[in-house]
Amino acid sequence: MKKFIPIAKPYISKSDIKLGIEAFSNGWNKNHSLYVNKFENNFKKKMNSNYSIATSSCTGALTIAISSLKLKKGSEIILSNINWIATVSPIVNLGYKPVFCDVEYKNWCIDPSKMENLINKKTGAIIVTHLYGNLCDMEKIMKIAREKKIPVIEDAAEALGSKYKKKYAGTIGDIGCFSFHASKSLTTGEGGMLITNKKKIYDKAKKLSDHGRSKNNYSSYLADEIGFKFKMTNFQAALGISQLKRLKKIILRKREIFNYYKDGLKEFNFNFNYEDKKIYNSYWLTSICVNENKNFSFKNFKKYMLKNKVDVRNFFPPLSKLKMFRSRKKYRNSFIVSYNSFNLPSHIEITNKQMNMIINLIKKYFKK
Ligand SMILES: Cc1ncc(COP(=O)(O)O)c(C=O)c1O
Repeated sequence: MKKFIPIAKPYISKSDIKLGIEAFSNGWNKNHSLYVNKFENNFKKKMNSNYSIATSSCTGALTIAISSLKLKKGSEIILSNINWIATVSPIVNLGYKPVFCDVEYKNWCIDPSKMENLINKKTGAIIVTHLYGNLCDMEKIMKIAREKKIPVIEDAAEALGSKYKKKYAGTIGDIGCFSFHASKSLTTGEGGMLITNKKKIYDKAKKLSDHGRSKNNYSSYLADEIGFKFKMTNFQAALGISQLKRLKKIILRKREIFNYYKDGLKEFNFNFNYEDKKIYNSYWLTSICVNENKNFSFKNFKKYMLKNKVDVRNFFPPLSKLKMFRSRKKYRNSFIVSYNSFNLPSHIEITNKQMNMIINLIKKYFKK
């Protein structure tokens, strides 16, 4: 019987398990944050960043990141309309107003010129999401943001290892947030990381991430502001330390997978994940936007692929269409891209035989 091929799954090596078990017996009492500190240090070194805070998820990292900016009540935060709910929920939960921005057709990420038009006196921050490994146009975004003195948070949950002009995703704006969810290229089961080069932001974020306690008050149970607790455990961190050692290999394999699919489907006029001379894409998920004139129904396509035991994922629906927001505004590219695109199985253990089978299924479907 054919085996089901999932979109993503973790690859846990023997050395991951060995370090995890070590943390289970060793990571207590005076060692309560031994592995977490080591993972934070290794991660910031790898990313070439000054400061890092390991968190329980990227959602937690985003929540702390936004809070650390101490924005005025009623501030607006601009973000891409094609986004996972986790990028907008911290904005709403913290009492700020999300302002959705359309995406660029070529890279599915926030459109810098449309973003600029949305900036007003109430704009407190911009969150840019690097979707499916793609990178936002950071040069244009940062130029606009610096001119207007607006902080930029990079949601790099899906772009660990992608680079823009040789700088890692998450290190170009003021704060970068990552996810180590089980579906991601590097996983700690659940988990996340916040990185920044700015000491002021780090100090604030660190305090907020630890119940509002400052370093001096650590052992006195004296908090001097209301904070959060989104901590990573030592066991998760041990997994992270071990996986981080082979990040380069993981990404090279992701790139092989992407190129294999792209080559196999070159006869179609599909838009794949975006890369140009400035960008190195870590291709978290190989993704395809079919031509907008193809009358594509993701529902039918998914049914067909599932019948053949292959999982496919639709792109995130436009946030503006969710019932919590129900905007009537038209976001042309977001709608086209979101409803005409899908992700393919991209976990690193996928075989050429499996990819050939998937390529042939897609060929058959789109030649109908
Ligand atoms: C773009 C984006 N932002 C944020 C998150 C939230 O990450 P986490 O599940 O670690 O909270 C995800 C998770 O998949 C994501 O894809």
